[in-house]
Amino acid sequence: MDLKKYEEEIKKSKSLDELDELEIKYLGRNGLINDLLSKIKDIPNEEKRAYGQKVNQLKTSIDQSIKVKKKELVNKKSDVFFDKTLPGKIYPKGSLHIVSYAIEEITKIYEKIGFIRVSYPEVDWEYGAFESLNMPSGHPARDDVETSFIESVPHPRFGKMVLTPHTSNGQNREMRRVGTPPIRMINISKCYRPNWDATHTPMFYQFEGLCVDREITIANLKGTLDYFAEKYFGRGTKTRLRPHHFQFTEPSFEVDISCGHPQGGQNQKGHPKGDMNKCRVCKSGWLELGGTGMVHPNVLKEGKIDPKIYTGWAFGFGIERVIMMKYGLEDIRNYYSGDIRFLEQF
Ligand code: FA5
Repeated sequence: MDLKKYEEEIKKSKSLDELDELEIKYLGRNGLINDLLSKIKDIPNEEKRAYGQKVNQLKTSIDQSIKVKKKELVNKKSDVFFDKTLPGKIYPKGSLHIVSYAIEEITKIYEKIGFIRVSYPEVDWEYGAFESLNMPSGHPARDDVETSFIESVPHPRFGKMVLTPHTSNGQNREMRRVGTPPIRMINISKCYRPNWDATHTPMFYQFEGLCVDREITIANLKGTLDYFAEKYFGRGTKTRLRPHHFQFTEPSFEVDISCGHPQGGQNQKGHPKGDMNKCRVCKSGWLELGGTGMVHPNVLKEGKIDPKIYTGWAFGFGIERVIMMKYGLEDIRNYYSGDIRFLEQF
């Protein structure tokens, strides 16, 4: 315990970094003081007290010397001339990724009408992705969404582990989380399907709306879809529902929005204003947004909600798809290429 030697070393340190290293060496977890304290068990009982006091005094003195030296180094004026009036360095500014930006926009649009943003697991059990959505084991509707399975021991009740192919896996979880309706959920998360072309990527985002309460009808659904279309795509955008089939909604629809692209879209009154057959974005005046429908009574029951009292609707749309439609983009693979020349435009 050579205090003088330690103090000398502290005094000699020339920079704050050097001092930090000494602080760790003496006072750190594996430093000198802790090392000395650990030896106390080898000291005869009658000397233990004096030994302990000595180590503590040493610790206080080292600590004090470090503090004094630190003050000195911080206050020391640099010998190098520094012109404070020079303008600072300008660093390149980053921006939100096109998908993150869309997620923020979509969340705000739905929060304004009372929807709560949630995020449910991307790795789920078959139960969440299928059984809870009225698709029992072996049901052919499961094949509609190509699914990636995770190699793991299946859960005795919930089945195999999957990379969730859609955000509809959040429906049952949200019903059980809330308990008694009203439910107004907007679930945004990553989904996975083994596809790769201009409009499909193996990892993509969906946003899923779920609204359950007394007397919820298709009119509420249409109103909410129109509200979203106007807010996200711009004033005058219209929606239309086409009959479709989903195992977890009845009736089910595909939702289209009117194409706003100048080549073939519709104006605010819904009249064609160009040659739609030539529009490279829509070809028909309408663009497909995604799936929707009234929540199937079996799905409500599975979520512990009484379908005799409550009704609801749900929809699931692709985020990459809505961005594509909004800006008239042609290939969603660009979103994930990391090419700054593409990304910095948004
Ligand atoms: C579904 O996934 C249903 N779960 C939607 C739903 C929810 C219906 C609630 C009824 C009630 P679908 O398989 O059509 O539906 O996918 C919905 C949207 O996800 C598509 O319109 C598309 O925009 C997007 N999508 C699907 N696969 C991909 C992919 N590989 N890459 C990018 N986007 C995709």
